[in-house]
Amino acid sequence: MVPPVLRTVAASLLVLVIAPVLAQSSGRTPKPVIEPAKPGTQCVADPATMRREHPRMLEHQRDDTVHGGIRGAKASLKACIACHASPATGSVAAADTNFCVSCHTYTAVRIDCFECHATKPSPTAFHPVVPTGPNAAAAMRLAQQLKQMGAAATPEPAAVPQQ
Ligand code: HEC
Ligand code: HEC
Ligand code: HEC
Repeated sequence: MVPPVLRTVAASLLVLVIAPVLAQSSGRTPKPVIEPAKPGTQCVADPATMRREHPRMLEHQRDDTVHGGIRGAKASLKACIACHASPATGSVAAADTNFCVSCHTYTAVRIDCFECHATKPSPTAFHPVVPTGPNAAAAMRLAQQLKQMGAAATPEPAAVPQQ
């Protein structure tokens, strides 16, 4: 049997050794650094809803979309990117701190959206070059068609007058 006094000493030593470690780890648990959205804008829903629901909002039946041109998504990925692209990289997924990547790295979520979709806002947010994936060829054809349709349908944005 270990004498009680020794047990107490051992216990206090353990506390002394462990306490700083615990304090450190709770104080230093890395939180995702989420870059702020474009100033003066409002999200399509409140932040709590967005954190919870954005995967559902963005869902589309990929094969239907790519092959059939059916767009089932409730929200626009282009719009997300327009507001959430980093001022530094111009992208939502170029650096670890960029909007979409910041949380996903933290929560170990992997998305393959950017194999087809551009990560930067541009007149054609659909990436013109789709180098990988089984649907790459079809996606590229569709993107090309959409680009032509878009060019015919939407006028160029008016130039902002210089002050
Ligand atoms: C018009 C600009 C705009 C658009 C479009 C937009 N957002 Fe936001 N988003 C914001 C702003 C501003 C915030 C900061 C929270 C707020 O609303 O006060 C935000 C917050 C968020 C948050 C919460 C971030 C946090 O700090 O926890 C998520 C997640 C999010 N947006 C995802 C999206 C997704 C996904 C889309 C596309 C479906 C999207 N947003 C479209 C402007 C936008
Ligand atoms: C506030 C943190 C946060 C931000 C910012 C964020 N996400 Fe997410 N995202 C998550 C979490 C957590 C999950 C997994 C939970 C879930 O599926 O409900 C997820 C899941 C997803 C999924 C589903 C993945 C799958 O395989 O089911 C998609 C698609 C997605 N996010 C797209 C985006 C896009 C695009 C952006 C940037 C516009 C973005 N997210 C920004 C936290 C975030
Ligand atoms: C194989 C290529 C491919 C992949 C991968 C892909 N998409 Fe798409 N997506 C398309 C095509 C093609 C369209 C239709 C073109 C358009 O409307 O810009 C589209 C359209 C969309 C739209 C509606 C148009 C808009 O406003 O952006 C959303 C939202 C969207 N995709 C979200 C996602 C998300 C989220 C992921 C990842 C989970 C994803 N896509 C992965 C090909 C793809």
